[in-house]
Amino acid sequence: MSEAPEPGTAAYPSSEPALLELEDVGKSYGNVHALRGVTLDVRAGEVTCVLGDNGAGKSTLIKVVAGLHDHTDGVMRVEGTERRFSSPRQAQEAGIATVYQDLALAPLMSVWRNFFLGNEITRGPLRTLDIGAMKRIAGDELAKMGIEIPDLDRPVGSLSGGQRQVVAIARAVYFGAKVLILDEPTAALGVKQSGVVLKYILKARDAGLGVIFITHNPHHAFLVGNHFVVLKLGRVVLDRHRDEITLAELTREMAGGEELETLSHELERSGVAAPEA
Ligand SMILES: Nc1ncnc2c1ncn2[C@@H]1O[C@H](COP(=O)(O)OP(=O)(O)OP(=O)(O)O)[C@@H](O)[C@H]1O
Ligand SMILES: [Mg+2]
Repeated sequence: MSEAPEPGTAAYPSSEPALLELEDVGKSYGNVHALRGVTLDVRAGEVTCVLGDNGAGKSTLIKVVAGLHDHTDGVMRVEGTERRFSSPRQAQEAGIATVYQDLALAPLMSVWRNFFLGNEITRGPLRTLDIGAMKRIAGDELAKMGIEIPDLDRPVGSLSGGQRQVVAIARAVYFGAKVLILDEPTAALGVKQSGVVLKYILKARDAGLGVIFITHNPHHAFLVGNHFVVLKLGRVVLDRHRDEITLAELTREMAGGEELETLSHELERSGVAAPEA
């Protein structure tokens, strides 16, 4: 499952229901149609990349799936069953974990505390925190993901941005998430740190999760994605599997290639010389 699909093989079995299906989903805020007619499948063991420019509706899409906002049109199904979440807790209970760019972790708390935040292990009738167990499990789980954090008592705020994202990913995998949503996890990171996060996106995929990777960056998307969806003004303008698109095409779609060409023709016609390429 870690390989890009061979052309012609049934790499995307359509017989089993997708983990998450959106059908004609729309979301309006009063008169603003942030999402319209969005149809999208997220499958286990695949990375679904959602790309789009500012204001395209990416965050709105996540908010609907993560239970922060209710959709106003269409149908959302989780493992084949229609769902409508009225709180983030409900979405989490349905196996949908969301890692937000900044809100993922509490910076002043230790790594192990963050790992178990909201899911603490307690023991005895007084329900005292089982710190030993939590440290051991957090250490084991991070090691399984291949992450070296020697001192789990360190505050999360002292980790690099990439490490913080990775701790949040490891936590989602451990607590049994089926769908993992990452909202622009590489946006604030340099090349090396982005590489670290991309690697753990693949680990989550290999653990069988359906990953939704939101990004502005077609290069990052193409490194890990099985499936690419581009949103523009709240609508899906492109939906392709990896074997149906090239990086150049994806980049062009993201850069608004046609709009740039039209603009360049208009500038030429109006006598503004285009600079030599
Ligand atoms: N709570 C809200 N009330 C009214 N309009 C909203 C609300 N949230 C988003 N919108 C509008 O919906 C549209 C889509 O916004 P959204 O935040 O989903 O875009 P985005 O793709 O995440 O953009 P960015 O890349 O800038 O994060 C925008 O026009 C935005 O102004
Ligand atoms: Mg956004």
